[in-house]
Amino acid sequence: MNKAPGSASFRNRMEQSSKLKNSRIVLSLDPAQTPEPKRFALNLVKRLQHHICAIKLNFHLILPLSKSDLSEVNKLAHLHRLQSIADIKLNDISNTNQIAIQYLLEMGFDSVIVNPFMGREALRSAVEQTHESNCGVIALVYMSHRGAKDCYGADVISQKTKRIIRMYKHFLNMTNDAEVDGIVVGATHIGVLKEISCNKSAPIYSPGIGTQGGRIDLAIKHGADFLIIGRSILSSTDPVREAKKFQLLTSSY
Ligand code: XMP
Repeated sequence: MNKAPGSASFRNRMEQSSKLKNSRIVLSLDPAQTPEPKRFALNLVKRLQHHICAIKLNFHLILPLSKSDLSEVNKLAHLHRLQSIADIKLNDISNTNQIAIQYLLEMGFDSVIVNPFMGREALRSAVEQTHESNCGVIALVYMSHRGAKDCYGADVISQKTKRIIRMYKHFLNMTNDAEVDGIVVGATHIGVLKEISCNKSAPIYSPGIGTQGGRIDLAIKHGADFLIIGRSILSSTDPVREAKKFQLLTSSY
């Protein structure tokens, strides 16, 4: 898809892909250790492209693949009108973030997942940098795993109001202020998802469906805009059938 200045933003491209594919599934391309990770990725993009709107690459592929391999995967995704998300949960000083983001953009990623723990200034700087290339930032607000409550659910004192608030509310305020392009809230925490969906200013990406126990119908009902799914599709004996099943569920709400 065109990322030249003046073309659609990452957020708009996600909407377009999702309409075109009639799907709100972001496929987590997470192979268990494989001798041929590039072939794994290319093969799945080709087979599943009609049932998903985006792919998400985590360290499972970003560590073993080269810059040119990753560019090839992203090119294929774009050829099939899919968006590509780098899930590195970036959380460093601005200078280091900038260099990491620059590499990811050069490889053709459309957006990067970051951790708001880096603070307001670094978060805003990441958003500005990606927007210059019509790409985007998706920020964690409440992760999907069970232990997420230890941090995302912890009480903190807001510097602004001096009141005690939950970390995820603090993150939500920060991500709203920074004008990120998406937020991550686990489908495994329906109460939090429901609450956040009333105050969000960016689409919600929800991981945790299936293997981690989250239900796609409940996640959509309570405000998820996109569903991040990995093992439930990849570990199936028939990934295409499984992806179709999830696609149908996302299009029926
Ligand atoms: P499964 O196999 O559980 O894979 O469907 C989920 C994928 O998403 C990642 N993951 C998360 N990524 N915030 C994220 O940015 C989260 O809360 C979260 N929970 C899971 C996980 O690493 C895998 O790639």
